[in-house]
Amino acid sequence: MTKPVWIQHASQLATMHIPHHVGPRSKEAMSELGLIEDGSVWLENGVIEAVGTTAELHKIYQTRVHEADVVDATGHLVTPGLVDPHTHVAFGGSREREFEMRLEGATYMDIMNAGGGIHATTRMTREATEEELIEQTAKRLNSFLAHGVTTVEGKSGYGLDLENELKQLRVIKYLQQHHVVDLVPTFMGAHAVPQEYKGREEEYVEFLIEEVLPVVADQKLAKFNDVFCEVDVFTPEQAERILEAGKRLGLIPKIHADEIKPYGGAELAAKVGAISAEHLLKASDIGIAKMAEAGVVACLLPATALYLREEAAKGRQMIDQGVPVAISTDCNPGSSPTTSMPLVMNLACISMRLTPAESLCAATFNAACAIQMDDKIGSIEIGKQADIVLWNVENYQKLQYLFGVNHVQKVWKKGVKVIG
Ligand code: NIG
Ligand code: FE
Repeated sequence: MTKPVWIQHASQLATMHIPHHVGPRSKEAMSELGLIEDGSVWLENGVIEAVGTTAELHKIYQTRVHEADVVDATGHLVTPGLVDPHTHVAFGGSREREFEMRLEGATYMDIMNAGGGIHATTRMTREATEEELIEQTAKRLNSFLAHGVTTVEGKSGYGLDLENELKQLRVIKYLQQHHVVDLVPTFMGAHAVPQEYKGREEEYVEFLIEEVLPVVADQKLAKFNDVFCEVDVFTPEQAERILEAGKRLGLIPKIHADEIKPYGGAELAAKVGAISAEHLLKASDIGIAKMAEAGVVACLLPATALYLREEAAKGRQMIDQGVPVAISTDCNPGSSPTTSMPLVMNLACISMRLTPAESLCAATFNAACAIQMDDKIGSIEIGKQADIVLWNVENYQKLQYLFGVNHVQKVWKKGVKVIG
């Protein structure tokens, strides 16, 4: 049995809890952080047992103080563990040469169409054994944890055939069982048309629908189904068919939408009832309005925009128009090889004009909503999983203001200290 943990005197406890509010937050609700000054939390049996001011918790727990690990959080911000709702973390190899090529003038799609990009990582992922992939992915998860991230969504999409898509999903499943970071699996066989199907795109779509999706669903290897809907990748019509096929098998749709060119991806997300639409750099105003109406979470990836030297998505406009916004690293070997959610929070403020409060909501509660985990994580509430971060700053504004630095001091995962 692990000892209970009693965190006391947090200068700011950002609970992210809004009583009676259900579902992802937008507009003003994204700024409601449920702040408690001189805050305190009691963690026991992996869950949050009590939250309040230190004085309030003293009344309940003073007789049990000798049982607990008492943590003095004076001068520290305390938040829920960060949630990364969009990553491609289970990949083989790396692509640093492409970084140089882009700096020399090549575009992301030039490289991909010439057999690099996603195709290069597909080759490296196919060549890697399951054990090698587990080892490489575990290292990345360690880095996520060091940056205060306690739950990570992970996509397949570098196998692009039955055997290797299943291999990637098994790696994610294995790590969900054996790594402290929680993983949530997404099938993304429609990440690219593999090179052996060049000129036979329709056949690949049929192959995914007829032969891959049913096996993924049958083996319960994924919760979500994601498609890269983009010019020269999958058309909105193909994306819709793949997502609808997934829905019939119980897989919830997500879409990489309007990343490089405007392509009606945001509109499609609303039409198929996707839980989230990702990227959205080039989303149309109509698409944004439709997402707001349908309650689709915009999962925005400002590190990817920066890395590709593109203008970031219109995060400010989306929030003001009622779209709930989440943010994510998009951790992948091409367009965003980072595991730093704190950096992504900084960038959300700098390049998308989110406020520091909105940015924290986007990286915790709304991120949990984007992976349908808001009943368990994303806020500090009684009964939720005890995933907590203690930061080396005294308030949430400073977390966003002192940018590009890792301010994590301590992390608890399910009530057990795993960092610090
Ligand atoms: O989300 N846009 C498509 N997929 C990834 C990049 C994958 C890669 O370049 O390997 C993304 O940015
Ligand atoms: Fe992505």
